[in-house]
Amino acid sequence: METFSITTAIDYVNGEPHIGHAYEKILTDIVARHYKKRADKVFFLSGTDEHGIKIQKTAKSLNITPKELCDKNSKAFIDSWKLLDIEYNKFIRTTDDYHKKTVQDIFEKLLENGDIYKHKYKGLYCSGCECFLADKDLDENGNCPIHNKKPELVEEENYFFKLTKYKDKIIDHIKKNPKFIQPEFRVQEVLNQLENIEDISVSRAKTNVEWGIEVKSDPTQVIYVWIDALSNYITGLGYSTDGNCEENFKDFWPVNYHIIGKDILKFHSIYWIGILMALGVELPKSIYAHGWIMIDKNKMSKSTGNVISPKSIMESFNLKSPDALRYFMATSAIGGKDGNYSDIDFKEKVNADLANNIGNLLNRTLNMLFKYFDGDIKEEFINDNLINKTEETIKEVQLCFDNMDIQGAASKIVSLSDEANKYVNDNAPWTLYKEGKILECGCVLYTILNLMVKIALLIDAFCPNISKDMAQELKFDINIKFKDIKKNMLKTGKLITKEEIHPVFLRLDSEIIGSEAKKG
Ligand code: MSP
Repeated sequence: METFSITTAIDYVNGEPHIGHAYEKILTDIVARHYKKRADKVFFLSGTDEHGIKIQKTAKSLNITPKELCDKNSKAFIDSWKLLDIEYNKFIRTTDDYHKKTVQDIFEKLLENGDIYKHKYKGLYCSGCECFLADKDLDENGNCPIHNKKPELVEEENYFFKLTKYKDKIIDHIKKNPKFIQPEFRVQEVLNQLENIEDISVSRAKTNVEWGIEVKSDPTQVIYVWIDALSNYITGLGYSTDGNCEENFKDFWPVNYHIIGKDILKFHSIYWIGILMALGVELPKSIYAHGWIMIDKNKMSKSTGNVISPKSIMESFNLKSPDALRYFMATSAIGGKDGNYSDIDFKEKVNADLANNIGNLLNRTLNMLFKYFDGDIKEEFINDNLINKTEETIKEVQLCFDNMDIQGAASKIVSLSDEANKYVNDNAPWTLYKEGKILECGCVLYTILNLMVKIALLIDAFCPNISKDMAQELKFDINIKFKDIKKNMLKTGKLITKEEIHPVFLRLDSEIIGSEAKKG
């Protein structure tokens, strides 16, 4: 049986979801949905990361308990993902009991094996990164360059993980597996970081951080966020240190991809890999680090006041479904580089690709089929003149996904629709009809509508609502696998009535209202 599994980073719940978080979940959802048309079984894991000093401090400032803060904000993430049609199979919260228990077991196992030891330590801790920073990590003012804040000097006795023991093995694995870290241009960055790697702190004194998972054999310490957070990838699938793992773990581990942001690549490609090696658990097949989403070319930050939530975009454009936003986000960054959101770009891109190109072509063609042939597909029309191009595109789109080129996949689909638009204009079925060339006219319409079935199947991962509408109009099953796509997908006989024809995507022509309201 062929399986495919994928994970996202789990988001910190000390704030509300913004479109940076949304970008990653959309990207992952699109990949998962695409592979649902290829693999027998797909598993998509997402969740929230709920422990640590930041949550503890935020909850205190709000005069609520950390758990209350986590419950409230975790729900905000779940609600947003529902709004965006993110179809994960499991949503893990690091405050879930099964997760906490397995993390404790993992810690004890590493301790028993001698991979964790206790050590007195003095270091600079950034609560934004939830990690210790070395002097070389700081900027010229001694600040954390990501959070632009001075780290705190912390002196504690903590447990340390012997990461250095695994350094050579990790380097070797990365070098031998060129697709282990993607995109490729990130590999060298990780290898450079590995050069200076040290053992890492994996616990904090409870006197300083209360909100965490207690070390079972030493209740004065709590397990420090990263070992807790990273373990979600296996606890969420039902891993157990005693070997009694659940079916999901057997079926879906190792995952095909961990999808994460570039800022946390080090934790995934070095720390997590060291921990898995120490546990004797197989390594994930690949780690894909995406770039960051900027707003109008600026970094999103609370202090700038430009943090935008996916919900506010949907509301301000009065979107009935998330398809436009999903499509835009997925195409806004190329090859793992940073991307950009702006209202204008959003509107232009989705109007051009989804409304003017794909939606309009389908609508025009169906209207002609109704006008000339009362909505009927006749046997003699079956002749798809663009079949070669279509079949080529189906292969190319899959190849793009195999290379995690999501933006490339979308542009291949739109190119196919471009081609079809050109074909319809070149062949002018309205003229053919007027000239009495009925058969030729019918064949042109058949060619377009048959191609539209393939477009719907390909774009389904990006725009599940638009594709469902297309499938309703063209009367085919949107859930078929790619291997079951036939040359001719349209049934003969009555395809559509006048009442059934409707635009599958409306242009975003509304005034850009409420852009101020978007800023949280
Ligand atoms: N909790 C950790 C991840 C633990 S994974 C075992 C964390 N949380 S986070 O909330 O800060 O970020 C969650 C994900 O969102 C990360 O992959 C991060 O890179 C991503 N993004 C946060 N802001 C982003 C943008 N502006 N743009 C794109 N992705 C961004 O890190």
